[in-house]
Parts: sequence; C-alpha cells; structure tokens
Amino acid sequence: MSETMPASERSYAVLGIFDTPDALMQAIPKVRASMLGAVEAYTPYPIHGIDDALGLRKSPLGGMVLVMGILGALTAFGFQYWISAVDYPIITGGKGAGSWEAFIPIMFEVTVLFATFTAGLGMLFLLNKLPFFGHPVLSSKAMSSITRDRYALALEAEDESFDSGAALRALQAAGALEVEVLPAPDRSPFLTSDFILRVLGGIFAACVVSGLAMYFATKWFPLLKPMVYMQDQPRLNAQKPSGFFKDRHGMQRPVAGTVARGHLPTATGTQDAAAALVNPLPRTKEIFAVGRKAYANRCEVCHGALGNGAGSLTAAYGGKPANLQAQQFRDYPDGKIYWAIVNGKNAMPSQAADLTDAQRWAVVHYVRALQRAQNAKDEDLKVATP
Ligand code: HEC
Repeated sequence: MSETMPASERSYAVLGIFDTPDALMQAIPKVRASMLGAVEAYTPYPIHGIDDALGLRKSPLGGMVLVMGILGALTAFGFQYWISAVDYPIITGGKGAGSWEAFIPIMFEVTVLFATFTAGLGMLFLLNKLPFFGHPVLSSKAMSSITRDRYALALEAEDESFDSGAALRALQAAGALEVEVLPAPDRSPFLTSDFILRVLGGIFAACVVSGLAMYFATKWFPLLKPMVYMQDQPRLNAQKPSGFFKDRHGMQRPVAGTVARGHLPTATGTQDAAAALVNPLPRTKEIFAVGRKAYANRCEVCHGALGNGAGSLTAAYGGKPANLQAQQFRDYPDGKIYWAIVNGKNAMPSQAADLTDAQRWAVVHYVRALQRAQNAKDEDLKVATP
C-alpha cells in the first residue's frame, strides 16, 4: 500500500503487522498515544494483559443480563399476582389469594428466560453488530497470517476525519513490519430486499422442515400420555348406559329420602299427615312474585294460568289435571297442596326436583291467590285502610 492514497477515499482502518506478541504489546501504547482512531488488536490466540493495554472496557453484557433477569422476576411476579389476586381470585388449597410462595417456580423460569434471551440476542445484535455479517478485517490480505503466526494492530476510523496516511506512519513508527489500508466497506442498509428474501426463505424452510418432522414424529411414534390415572379410572358418564346399575342408566336419581345440605326434610309421609304443615313463608309481594314465576314454569302447562285445570297440554298427555278452583281444593289445607307438589299424585309427577322448598311454599301461596281471585267476595274489593 502506498502513502499516496487520495484523502477523499474513505478507509475503515489501517492494519499494522507485527511478528511477535512482545512487539505488538510494545506498539500498543505508542499507537494509542497517537490518538488517530480506535485501537484494536487481532491475534491468533489470547495474549495476557492485552485487554488492559488496549484499555478495553468490561463487557456490558453482565449488567444487561442482571437488569433483564430482575425485570423477568418482577414481570412473572406481577403477572401472577394480577391473575390470582386481582383478576380471578380463587382460593385453592386453602392458600390466600396472592400467596407469593406459589409464584416462585414461574418467577425462576421467567428470570432465566429473560436473562438468557438478553445474553444471546444482546451479544449477537448489540455487541457483535448483527446483521452486519462481514467484518472488514476478515477480508484483509493479512488475515490469513493473523490467524496463524502474525499479530496485527488496527487503527480504526471513528469518524470522517480519519487520516489514513497519518495512521499508517504512526503504525510504522511503532515498529509495524507491514501495513495495509482497509477500504471502508459499503455497508448496505439492514432491510435490503435481498436480506428480507433470505429471512423469509429461511422462515419458510424452517416451517416446512419442522412441519414434516412433527408429522412423521406423531405418525411413527405413539403418543405418550404423561398421566392417565384420572382418565382411565372406573366412572359413570352422564347420558351413557352403564352395566353397574340394574336399570343400565349411568345417571341415577338421588337415593330416596336424600336431603340436600341446607334444606329441610320435606313431606315424606301421607298426604293426610302433611295437612298439619303450616306454610312458613309470609304473604309478601316478593314471595308472591317467586310463587307466580315458579307456577308459570312448573304448573301452568297442566293446570292452566288460572289454575282451573285447563292447561295447554293436549289429550295425548293422558291424565286429567285437577281443577284447583274446585271447592275441594279451595278447602284443602296448605300442607296437602305442598304434599302434592313434593310427591306428585297419580298422573302428576313430583315437582320436588325442580323447585326449592321455598319455591314450593311460594307456589302454595300463589295457588291460594289464584283461588281467591276467581272467587272474590265483596269485602275483597274494599281498600284496606290502616
Ligand atoms: C304434567 C302435568 C302436571 C304438572 C306439571 C302439575 N300437575 Fe298438578 N296435577 C296434575 C294431574 C294430572 C293431577 C290430577 C292427579 C289425580 O288426582 O289424578 C294433578 C293434581 C294436582 C293437585 C291436587 C292433588 C290432590 O290431592 O288431588 C294439586 C294441588 C296440584 N296438582 C298442584 C300442582 C302444582 C302446584 C303444580 C306446580 C308446582 C302442579 N300441580 C304441576 C298434573 C300436573
């Protein structure tokens, strides 16, 4: 390389070649003192003390990993706390919502995730400057000897004002045996169409390969179920036949006399015995509303909206629903109506499974209201005055 290179031609660096590590180490302080550009050394193997001589700062990667790891732990904690204490607070295993001890495994995982991704991607993209694939020094003429038995010191351009001639003289003065000027590479912008095509092609190839691999892996290797204890236990499926019961039904009615938790035992004896039962509910507007709704849902189809036995069922039903307006039923004690609701009567099926105890007694009140509405007396029209 000659010293007559036009100043307009920009260069990336000037490379000085030394034949011993000692010569290189002695040259470093001199070249650094020239202050002409960034000083970088290329050697076939690590040389003790060269980091200090070059004044290399410690890699920032450790700090980045620490910060991102802590961020990962906080993210995992915050996310889990939000889920289990704010958004969907369900008590499981008797632990209070937001028990942080249970979050630790996930926090650990996310910490590792954030930290390793930062280490990997940070190294590749921030520190190794991907996607800048070719380092100019790699294409220098001296490179083949640098990787064998020569030691190179580079003065790299930091800005436009880099003077390659001065750099060249400084390296020679420091004892370089040979010098080489590296032209600045035309560093093409990141998102060239060529680059995008390669990335898309790579993604496509990866999809095809992994798709085929998954296809054949699941085809050739039997699926391994990790835990089948709950899946394979003897059990009864709803709506499915079962050999376990005599009637071969999987679904069974509760055992006779079953009393659900929180409910009182209801009328199980004879209808006459039930006559003594007293309706425990007060006659309030709200109770009548409950009774009216339950009646409309569970009784009206058979007994009619007025309770006169003219429901919307056709003759195909077979039974003749009782006319609840008949004198006989107006004289019925509340308990006998209640008993009919709970136990059913002849063609009338029991309504107990579909009405809570309170709903049954509310229906009784409502039947009374229907009866009185159809058989009103004069005094019923008088407005009650306090
Ligand atoms: C599927 C139709 C049907 C439904 C639903 C029905 N019943 Fe009945 N109910 C009947 C028939 C039929 C009879 C007549 C039974 C008999 O004595 O042969 C009857 C009789 C009665 C009796 C008279 C019982 C007696 O001692 O003779 C009462 C009271 C009664 N029903 C009330 C109700 C109430 C209240 C409901 C709603 C909770 C209701 N029923 C729902 C068909 C029905």
